[in-house]
Amino acid sequence: MTHADTAPPETPTAASIDGRHFQFVGATESVYEPGGLVVLASPGQVRQLGQVEKASFTIGGAPHGSGRILGLLTHDGGHLDVRRSVAFGSATLHPADARTTELLYGDATGSLPIGSFLASPDTPARLLAHRFNRHTFWCGQSGSGKTYALGVVLEQLLIHTAMPMVIFDPNADFVHMRQAHPAGATTDARRALAARDIRVLRPTSPSPDALRVRFLDLSMRAKAAVFRLDPLDDRAEHNELMHIEDTVGLVDPTKIVPGLRARGTPEARDLAARTENLRVTDWDVWAQGLAAVTDILETRPDATVLDLGGFANPEESLVVALAVLDDLWAKREQRRPLLIVIDEAHNFCSPDQTSPLHVAVRERIVQIAAEGRKFGLWLLLSTQRPSRVHPSIMSQCDNLALMKMTSPTDLDELATIFGFVPPAMLARASRFKQGEALFAGGFVPAPTVVTMGPRLTREGGADVEVPLR
Ligand SMILES: Nc1ncnc2c1ncn2[C@@H]1O[C@H](COP(=O)(O)OP(=O)(O)OP(=O)(O)O)[C@@H](O)[C@H]1O
Ligand SMILES: [Mg+2]
Repeated sequence: MTHADTAPPETPTAASIDGRHFQFVGATESVYEPGGLVVLASPGQVRQLGQVEKASFTIGGAPHGSGRILGLLTHDGGHLDVRRSVAFGSATLHPADARTTELLYGDATGSLPIGSFLASPDTPARLLAHRFNRHTFWCGQSGSGKTYALGVVLEQLLIHTAMPMVIFDPNADFVHMRQAHPAGATTDARRALAARDIRVLRPTSPSPDALRVRFLDLSMRAKAAVFRLDPLDDRAEHNELMHIEDTVGLVDPTKIVPGLRARGTPEARDLAARTENLRVTDWDVWAQGLAAVTDILETRPDATVLDLGGFANPEESLVVALAVLDDLWAKREQRRPLLIVIDEAHNFCSPDQTSPLHVAVRERIVQIAAEGRKFGLWLLLSTQRPSRVHPSIMSQCDNLALMKMTSPTDLDELATIFGFVPPAMLARASRFKQGEALFAGGFVPAPTVVTMGPRLTREGGADVEVPLR
């Protein structure tokens, strides 16, 4: 007998043979969609909280599906014991109410309110702050609301935790994080945000907020990448660069080319020509006596926004990224926690980029993804497509935030890498509206489909309106 032959039972019923998963039949409402939270009530007043992972709605037959048991509810319904669950032959199934859903978060201390459950707008949805000590991958197509939603989460981290963060901000989206949104924030939230030390560093800002890098502080590998030099293929010039501090001095970029020419050797002349051709000394990014970004990060602000979009050359933003990431890696043994947020992460760790600066930045991110967690270096990477971030970085991410994504290829790729997310929940992302997101992994007690709440601070890069006549 197939499900199509059976008339739907009046009350949806479920069974579990292993006490971990359940099958159900007869559940018709949309709350029984993948991700829906349900209470399974079996004889003997045993009540358990479950989550639907798969559902089929056949026309004219009995809708059916399966799910996972999340834990045992106490008799008074006031507590969820996630370490216990039991098998049952038959249970009734009904949607979990807001109060029961809240039990997922335990006593809710250290959880971040970010919006509401999509299926239940009155139920607040939260992230577990203490689980940002893992790497997070944030994905969704252009305009799905990633940057906006990321801002919602970062604001909550600032309000509720003492975790410092550095934000790589290629589109100046976070440069107003110090200003509360006129309509958004409650007084408490405003006060909490106002109390945080938020630094916004921009290429065009005057000191002390200028975004600068000190060339002499860069690693030899980074310096060579700036000049596109290979230590073996370009032996002579690379060697000249290695000793440039002693031979020419590097206090003033304008003196480098004349200083190299004055040395008169062929390799110095070559390096002078290279410097001039690449116009490296014209870049605004060099500190020239101003504080470097690494000096400012060393003072441990609560949040440091790096406006990377304001440079004339894309290489300059890569130099900033490399200076910051190399410095954090060099000091990793200090084990100071830091959330490294990289919006538009494909600019920094795409598998397809081949320039020496791109490769150096990507390799550092690969290393932080693989080994940074135990030193307190946690990545949060946001991008439009999974294939645009190097696979060995993505595979190290334990937390996933997924916004609207219609491409089946991209969803399949996510399903392969994030095997802990029920595929039917991932598939829902193709139907998401802007501002809807699936959160899965350690930072949620169970995969959760969320309608994001409003931003509390001003966003920088809102969409440009089409001019109408
Ligand atoms: N939840 C939301 N509530 C209100 N406005 C939103 C919301 N999410 C996004 N927006 C608005 O929609 C526009 C696009 O959002 P956003 O910039 O966050 O998209 P994105 O996914 O980061 O796109 P891209 O990949 O192109 O950077 C912005 O103008 C933003 O203000
Ligand atoms: Mg964006």
